[in-house]
Amino acid sequence: MAEPAQPAPAAAPAPVELPPAGPGEVALVVDGRPVVVPKGTTVLQAAERLGIVVPHYCYHPGLSIAGNCRMCLVEVEKTPKLQIGCATTAAQGMIVRTTTPRVTSTRNGIMEFLLINHPLDCPICDQAGECRLQQYSAEYGTGESRFVEEKIHHDKRQPIGARVTFDGERCIKCTRCIRFCDEVSKTGELGLFERGGHAIIGAFPGRPLDNPYSGNTVDICPVGALTWRPFRFRARVWFLKDTPSVCAGCARGCNVNLAAYDGRIHRITPRFNEEVNSYWMCDIGRQSHEALYARARLERPLVRQAPTPAAGAPAGPATAGEALDRAAGLLRAVTSRFGPDALAAVVSARLTLEDLYLAKTVLGGLVGVSRLIVPPHEEGEDDDLLIRKDRTPNARGAELLGLGAPDAQGLVRLSDDVRAGRLRGLVIVGEDPVGDGLLGEEALRSLEALVVVDSWKSPTIQAAHAALPAAGYGEYDGVYVSFAGRAQRARQAVRPHGLADPPWVVLRELGRRFGLSQAYAQASDLFDEVASHVPALAGLSYRSLGDGGRSIAGA
Ligand code: SF4
Ligand code: SF4
Ligand code: FES
Repeated sequence: MAEPAQPAPAAAPAPVELPPAGPGEVALVVDGRPVVVPKGTTVLQAAERLGIVVPHYCYHPGLSIAGNCRMCLVEVEKTPKLQIGCATTAAQGMIVRTTTPRVTSTRNGIMEFLLINHPLDCPICDQAGECRLQQYSAEYGTGESRFVEEKIHHDKRQPIGARVTFDGERCIKCTRCIRFCDEVSKTGELGLFERGGHAIIGAFPGRPLDNPYSGNTVDICPVGALTWRPFRFRARVWFLKDTPSVCAGCARGCNVNLAAYDGRIHRITPRFNEEVNSYWMCDIGRQSHEALYARARLERPLVRQAPTPAAGAPAGPATAGEALDRAAGLLRAVTSRFGPDALAAVVSARLTLEDLYLAKTVLGGLVGVSRLIVPPHEEGEDDDLLIRKDRTPNARGAELLGLGAPDAQGLVRLSDDVRAGRLRGLVIVGEDPVGDGLLGEEALRSLEALVVVDSWKSPTIQAAHAALPAAGYGEYDGVYVSFAGRAQRARQAVRPHGLADPPWVVLRELGRRFGLSQAYAQASDLFDEVASHVPALAGLSYRSLGDGGRSIAGA
């Protein structure tokens, strides 16, 4: 009797042909796909290049490799045991598999192990929605636990620093936070204490997590163990809409995301830019949006009817047109009676390049203001990581436009001239010199024309003949030039408050009353015009700045 026919053995997959690798490169295969990477690249990074996600907790591209979470285990051909992708260097001809049954079952096991002591906090956890335990449970977990014993308990809601709260039960001991403090901020406040299941992260006695970059530990904590106190329970993260922008807290210009919900910025987090801030930002910048909501905003234009405000006389609400007409009339009267030397302007290096450009062309050109002064705002010293003592984002932009460097002496001279009656009219954009103690309110009240454009109610506004509300940070688009000479776009994340307009719009409308004819419909029209006039910006366009900015010529 004839033997039954045997099924033909499955054909072995054809070997993948490796592309040629240049000097300093290696070629390998990940999940059947060839890739060439520089020598020293890890298997996890090589997979990332192909768009293959190898799940991981402890690995972070800005920190050293710890290799402790084991979530990134992969199969490497001819190596009997699974290898951690984050610490295995890609080698020539390596064959890596990231989705075999062995890898999948190991990931299931790691997830079950990481969760045995984890509390069921998701409904009340600030990290919910951006937590890797949630994400990986859904993608790589089995959906059930065999652990029936009592979980190990740790302190919850423990302030570990001035702005960071620690929940010991949620921590998976990946040590990212410890490595950040050791390697990036170099402040070394955190350590891993105890052993085994009782191991716990903590700050060394007498050294709370108070370094100026502490918020980055919250960003890199892959779970909800470290939370940012100012943001806790403000908004569920799935309601937030991120807008890529630039921090205005100092002259560095860190790239950030502005997270907004319900017409308000709730959170600022760093956005990777290797040229500027890598993965990090400082705590001052992280909280810089709070200034928008900390003081009463100027919501609508105000005008005074009398040319010289009597002390305490209230300014009344007006339309923007009425306030601009009044401002133009008073400024014209000063130049015709006393000449252009009797007029000056104070403009802020916190304004965008477009604001400053119109301040120069409208105030300096059409209105005839003889001097424009940019006040300095310095605090502390530059540090070795990101923070600059110049707390304005655009002093370099002001210099590029020919407005000069921030000038404290210029303000002193201006104050003297006001007191001596040599100065009769002043326009102030984006500054509160009275509140900052740079000019006296009484002296300003002696002026015949005081026009103020600003975001907040202030003692300077109190003294103004005409005040116009300006949109603030995150409320309009524009460009800042960092101290290092990088032109970057700050973007609008929320609508301007009340009847506020971007300062360049207010200046454009004032300019109309002095014969300005250009349309300037949007910030990009202005930037492109500036770029065509300023040699250092030659070749740049608003669009070409993209999300990461561009270096100016000679930077
Ligand atoms: S607190 Fe967060 S970052 Fe620090 S070890 Fe625990 S899980 Fe990792
Ligand atoms: S270093 Fe400067 S630009 Fe960067 S986040 Fe801090 S304040 Fe903002
Ligand atoms: S990411 Fe590789 S061991 Fe944690």
